[in-house]
Amino acid sequence: MTRGYFLSVEGNEGAGKSTVLTMAAEHLASRGVEVVTSREPGGIAIAEQIRAIVLDKGNTKMDARTEALLYAASRRQHFVEKIVPTLDSGKTILCDRFIDSSLAYQGYARGIGIDEILAINQFAIEDTFPDLTLFLDVDPERGLERINANKNREVNRLDLEALSFHERVREGYLKIADRFPERIVRIDANRTVPEVLDEMKRALDAFLARGTLSS
Ligand code: TYD
Repeated sequence: MTRGYFLSVEGNEGAGKSTVLTMAAEHLASRGVEVVTSREPGGIAIAEQIRAIVLDKGNTKMDARTEALLYAASRRQHFVEKIVPTLDSGKTILCDRFIDSSLAYQGYARGIGIDEILAINQFAIEDTFPDLTLFLDVDPERGLERINANKNREVNRLDLEALSFHERVREGYLKIADRFPERIVRIDANRTVPEVLDEMKRALDAFLARGTLSS
């Protein structure tokens, strides 16, 4: 059986990731792709338990390396329990955040180092990187405005960081996109929702036509 595709959606806060994710799943289904959606941290019971710890606003004492290890531990369990079996069954997995979140947030924004975070995550994912990553890039100030306007959204420990942290997250993503151009597509998420969705669909169609980003 042919292995399914591994797709991830990344972005800084308020980039519109949830909307894009839902519409990307619909678009893939309309193209006949059997798609399973998931999220990180979380996606399965053990990883959701780790998520509760890592995002708890009360955990103000959490050390940056502890945070990085918790994200990597949650990723490992999700990888083994959900990502690998889904890919092996021939289905495509569409994941809300994956390794690039750790590289941008813990590696770059927290200052641990992108290479250090890459190393602990390679231990977790054994070289299985996404085939395609859609990176939704929004100006951090605009992103935080969008989040604050959405009263239904739950506020987590990382949302409470200062604007300067979110600026570093974006810078981190830009560095990572430069480093992995064969799989990361940057989408300008400062534009209107229909414009962003159009670009997402074009990127997915181009990927499906080639089976990979690089021709
Ligand atoms: P979530 O509520 O899913 O936020 P969002 O809608 O922005 O995806 O919370 C996930 C938070 O965890 C988000 O602030 C990004 C952060 N995160 C990391 O710092 N490192 C990681 O490896 C992952 C997966 C998420």
